[in-house]
Amino acid sequence: MPSPTARVRACDRSRIRVMFDLADEAERAGRDPVRLEVGEPDLDTPEHVIEAAVAALRGGETHYTSNAGLPELRAAIADALDAEYGVRQEPDEVVVTTGGMEALHLAVLATVGQGEELLIPTPAWPNYWTQARLADATPVEVPMPAPEYDLDAERVVDRMGPDTAAVVLCSPSNPTGRVADPDEVRAVVDAAAEHDAYVLADEVYGALTYDSDPEGIASMAGNPEHVLTVGSCSKAFAMTGWRVGWLAGAADVVDEATKVRESTTCCAPTMAQHAALAALTGPRDPVDRMYEAFRERRDYVADRLADMDGVTAPRPEGAFYAFLDPETDEASLPLAKRLLEEGDVVLAPGDGFGEAGRGQLRLSFANSLERLELGLDRIEATI
Ligand SMILES: Cc1ncc(COP(=O)(O)O)c(C=O)c1O
Repeated sequence: MPSPTARVRACDRSRIRVMFDLADEAERAGRDPVRLEVGEPDLDTPEHVIEAAVAALRGGETHYTSNAGLPELRAAIADALDAEYGVRQEPDEVVVTTGGMEALHLAVLATVGQGEELLIPTPAWPNYWTQARLADATPVEVPMPAPEYDLDAERVVDRMGPDTAAVVLCSPSNPTGRVADPDEVRAVVDAAAEHDAYVLADEVYGALTYDSDPEGIASMAGNPEHVLTVGSCSKAFAMTGWRVGWLAGAADVVDEATKVRESTTCCAPTMAQHAALAALTGPRDPVDRMYEAFRERRDYVADRLADMDGVTAPRPEGAFYAFLDPETDEASLPLAKRLLEEGDVVLAPGDGFGEAGRGQLRLSFANSLERLELGLDRIEATI
């Protein structure tokens, strides 16, 4: 029997998953670990969004849509990008995707050729490596400076070369929760433009900023035509299971990306697209309440970590993550395992986000205040 291709074998499973599986095992054994390893809201999708999907199903919206998505949803995304992030794209420069994940996958396929480089400032979300490998491209880790790991344009620009085809920028960041400085962003986009490369702006957490207003990378840049914006309903609307995201940018790239999905997912699920339309155009109250809940948790977690002995962590400014640097020489995975075994609290190993995350741990605060309090007590006691 032929074996899987080298391209597929080169892709790793995420180390977050290792802790996820161990935590599941602990639960099956009757324990009650505080699970702070997963990056998804514990809150449920707002009711009006669910109703919109049900109405769509009852109304017979059970067929394919065009590859680019429902025209009214593309228009709503273009409006939201402009109103909320200052990013100007026409509806025909927007393709609705099956989550932000597909948008990133398409963006990498459309912009990074075989053997070319995708630069990844780290620590960063592990899927970018896989997406580069699936494009037969080379993922290149560019470590950002500890202890904050904020975007440092000089490091990225220094690493750019003739083979660099794209740079991925994630702000607010998974896993650090930090928001990139606009001057640093501008410098990266300018340099990308000089190299005839793209910036893939991963803004799936874009709406979740706590100390500043949301701002799109394309709106900060002098060369917005070199930016492809990725967004999603998953995080801010608590819609991870619906699988709706988008890719927005120069029409020629977006058209090419749209062509590819004729052979992959074809379109995002139709009823989910109707749900996304309701999320983007419907009442703000439920979304604002979720945002407030995240902000309250952020404040709580940031204060607790600032007072905790044995751990330092840059203050999270967005998303729902804190990146912990425990004062120990233990490697991330053994430490995460020890926290589960001895402390009954589950965190993601930091080295799953690149070499820059060695020895660190990611904490997700997409959990209730009660569970966060218990989890932080357990971390404090164990570390
Ligand atoms: C940094 C980052 N980008 C993109 C995604 C994709 O999210 P989705 O496909 O649910 O929109 C995630 C999901 O966890 C993420 O953390």
